Amino acid sequence: MKVAILGLGNVGQNFIRILSDSGGHIRESCGSDIEVAFVADSSGIVKVDQGRTYANILLAKRAQNIRSLGEPVTIEQVLDSGIDALIDVSSASKDGNRELEIFRAAIDRGINIVTANKSPLALHWAEIVPYARNRGIKVLFEATVAGGVPLFNFAKYSCGPSRVVKFRGIVSLTANYVLKMMHSGTSFEEAVRKAQEMGVAETDYTDDTSGLDGARKTVILANALFDREFSLKDIRYSGIPEVDLTELTSKGDRLRLFTSITSENEALEISTGFGLLDQGDFLLSLEESALGYEIKTDNNGVLRVSSAHDGPRETAAAVVNDVMILAREVKEH
Ligand SMILES: NC(=O)c1ccc[n+]([C@@H]2O[C@H](COP(=O)([O-])OP(=O)(O)OC[C@H]3O[C@@H](n4cnc5c(N)ncnc54)[C@H](OP(=O)(O)O)[C@@H]3O)[C@@H](O)[C@H]2O)c1
Repeated sequence: MKVAILGLGNVGQNFIRILSDSGGHIRESCGSDIEVAFVADSSGIVKVDQGRTYANILLAKRAQNIRSLGEPVTIEQVLDSGIDALIDVSSASKDGNRELEIFRAAIDRGINIVTANKSPLALHWAEIVPYARNRGIKVLFEATVAGGVPLFNFAKYSCGPSRVVKFRGIVSLTANYVLKMMHSGTSFEEAVRKAQEMGVAETDYTDDTSGLDGARKTVILANALFDREFSLKDIRYSGIPEVDLTELTSKGDRLRLFTSITSENEALEISTGFGLLDQGDFLLSLEESALGYEIKTDNNGVLRVSSAHDGPRETAAAVVNDVMILAREVKEH
């Protein structure tokens, strides 16, 4: 399984670490090695020279010199090189256009896609997912929502006969973490810095704290679980700047950024933003670095899934898992 990986930040580096730490187990489980043939960061893309190890990739990135791994190439050269999958763990662009162009070019060449980057799917779902499906190409996006907590693959492979009729979840770590810290007296800036240290807040954290990141996830949830073709412009959202500070002081222990989607007579009721949860709500029981959700289904009943802790390693594991799903399918055909 030959892959190109776009992005070598928190998630991208953990992706490489997991391949390094668990390569044998991954090979046994999916019947294929995952070969990282190209890596990219904001400085460009390089073809990784034969014989370079995962440790070499991590060291080169740490030295901010991925050029030392091999020759620079263009995205067209990557897509024409015969890779099996393109992995997007790069920063989200504001309009998703950069990713859209790359994804469409990959799909046109028969290349499957795995993404943790939400922007292209939140802004251009209709131009990517149905387009790929019609051509028999897979676009897998487990890691886009709720980090490492199984969600889309769980609904698809473990709840096969069911339709989801309601979703409620805490799927954004940074905003909830920052708010909890603020409730216990930490300043906004200090809370963001701690979230960045944990690797959960991206370098540009404003998408998280403004609620935009949660809104992107909500689009993907509505489209994937309820078979729609929404875009970000269809979703209203709020974030930390809109939080009432008096409410934060008095009821902050019940205040969370969460997403709720209910299907009622074919119409969807969608909300994403800060709201007060009732005492005893499952979502309130989640720890500050945990993610989780509750789905109501027509045949599998109500299911609650959560992690004890989530971060870039767990997100990267979800990305690796999607690549393993592809590897098994490539092998079968
Ligand atoms: N962190 C999480 O737990 C988590 C959870 C779910 C989803 N995600 C998503 O996963 C993606 C990566 O997250 P992260 O935490 O790893 O972010 P990050 O630490 O900020 O890393 C982003 C990486 O993307 C690279 N990059 C920026 N522009 C690029 C471009 N045009 N082409 C190729 N690479 C480019 C950056 O390059 P430089 O290194 O040169 O800056 C960096 O290596 C984001 O889209 C995020 O929303 C993250």
